[in-house]
Amino acid sequence: MITKLRAGYDGDLKAKGKTLQKTQIIAITSGKGGVGKTTIAVNMAIAWQQLGKKVLLIDADLYLGNVDLNLGIRSEKTIADVVKKDLELSEVIIKTPMKIDVLPASSASLDLIESENEILEKLAEKFKRFENSYDYIILDTGAGIALNVLSFLLGSDKIGVVITPDPASITDAYAVIKVVKSVNKNLPVYLIGNMVNHADESDVLFKKMNLMVHKFLDSQIYYGGALLKDDMVARSVKKQRPFILEHPNGLAANAVRGMVRRFMQALTANGFASKNIFERVLETKNTQVEWSH
Ligand SMILES: Nc1ncnc2c1ncn2[C@@H]1O[C@H](COP(=O)(O)OP(=O)(O)OP(=O)(O)O)[C@@H](O)[C@H]1O
Ligand SMILES: [Mg+2]
Repeated sequence: MITKLRAGYDGDLKAKGKTLQKTQIIAITSGKGGVGKTTIAVNMAIAWQQLGKKVLLIDADLYLGNVDLNLGIRSEKTIADVVKKDLELSEVIIKTPMKIDVLPASSASLDLIESENEILEKLAEKFKRFENSYDYIILDTGAGIALNVLSFLLGSDKIGVVITPDPASITDAYAVIKVVKSVNKNLPVYLIGNMVNHADESDVLFKKMNLMVHKFLDSQIYYGGALLKDDMVARSVKKQRPFILEHPNGLAANAVRGMVRRFMQALTANGFASKNIFERVLETKNTQVEWSH
């Protein structure tokens, strides 16, 4: 259980007077693995692109990243090469036929997370050149509350937490929300119900979760939408062809467009202003989390 959390970037949260940043950073995460994060992140990224936005999808699941597989693209270079071989991000970012850009990770990036601030500093520096070239940066994170995942979450403007009706996914999602809200109560969190049998089921899950967040964390969450359990979704993942392109008029595609609309509604409350994603991760990395056993 977490007993105490200290944010190491308090001063920055209070940063004022800067113009509203152009780039919105959205993290898609979950407590439990295998709940549909990558599927949802990929399709949301394309939905934003279809609204005319310039989108970068970052595979922030540094252990088991598979965004490239979901999109049916091949990545020869990854985030790790930017650091190890001193490549420019432009040499690693893939311009996909889906008209979104992708920064791939892979198991090859494994040692990246073991390394020190130096690596994030390098990425932050290189990313400066890209800072304002995107309207949306979507982070497909790993599951759970490992510190490297938490740094990405705390560096985002909005977080989408994916749950399924499976009780373990709900308990684990609460654990993620609890950590995030303990560090930054104002960071907007959207709950996305996946693999539900009907939209009402997702609504009930949301209401229960929001009640707990209200009662125990003195905060609130937003409803991010629902994606039904749908064989077509599973098939499209297998085919490596995002369903929003394969079945643009289907229920699932409409659901994702609804999610994107919801995420665009609330005003961002994070105070990072003009910092890029790796500068943010670097800062939040120093957030101290103490655990009791
Ligand atoms: N709405 C849905 N209906 C049916 N199957 C789904 C749905 N959403 C996801 N799936 C299935 O669940 C599997 C896991 O999805 P996905 O890889 O997106 O999860 P993840 O949360 O990113 O997993 P990981 O934690 O391993 O990164 C996929 O293979 C897909 O077939
Ligand atoms: Mg995934």
